[in-house]
Amino acid sequence: MLDTTALNQQRNFFEGHAAIWLFGYGSLIWKADFAYLERRPAYIHGWERRFWQGSHDHRGTPEAPGRVATLIRAKDSICHGMAYRIAPEVLAPLDVREKNGYLREKVPLTFMDEKGNGTEQSEGLIYLASDDNPAFLGDAPLDEIAQQIANAHGPSGPNRDYLVNLAVALRELGAKDAHIFALEQQLSQF
Ligand code: SIN
Repeated sequence: MLDTTALNQQRNFFEGHAAIWLFGYGSLIWKADFAYLERRPAYIHGWERRFWQGSHDHRGTPEAPGRVATLIRAKDSICHGMAYRIAPEVLAPLDVREKNGYLREKVPLTFMDEKGNGTEQSEGLIYLASDDNPAFLGDAPLDEIAQQIANAHGPSGPNRDYLVNLAVALRELGAKDAHIFALEQQLSQF
């Protein structure tokens, strides 16, 4: 299985910074099992969330992979999530958590105020699983994606929980995400 841990340790875009912003758009929104100094709802521009990344190590197995979130480029779209201000040391265990195909990328992010409007901007990090990583599954009919999610289980638990927790967290953020909410609806059939 691919392991991006060592590659990510070389992707040190914030050398010398005492704290950096990490933007979570998938499980990092609802499973923040790492130390953070502060967290703020935020979005990134030019991206859309998709359940197109295979999961062999968390929500599935090598024989029966699950599906988890990644991002695709979409010029006029925004993707909502949660930004965490973290000490750079926190990235080491996150590199291990995200090792199945995700690479650190530097992106501009925009923080949200209480009324849901974009406020100031900052540079941040995302973990991105691009279409050239070996665990990438890509697009499929929505009902097939939902069925795969309904059937998959891995060391971190049922794949279904990942999707449901994400949909709940996005609603709490007041975020619209057609792909996620349509998938959640499809999942309820299985
Ligand atoms: C993220 O949540 O930002 C990355 C993908 C994941 O860990 O689910």
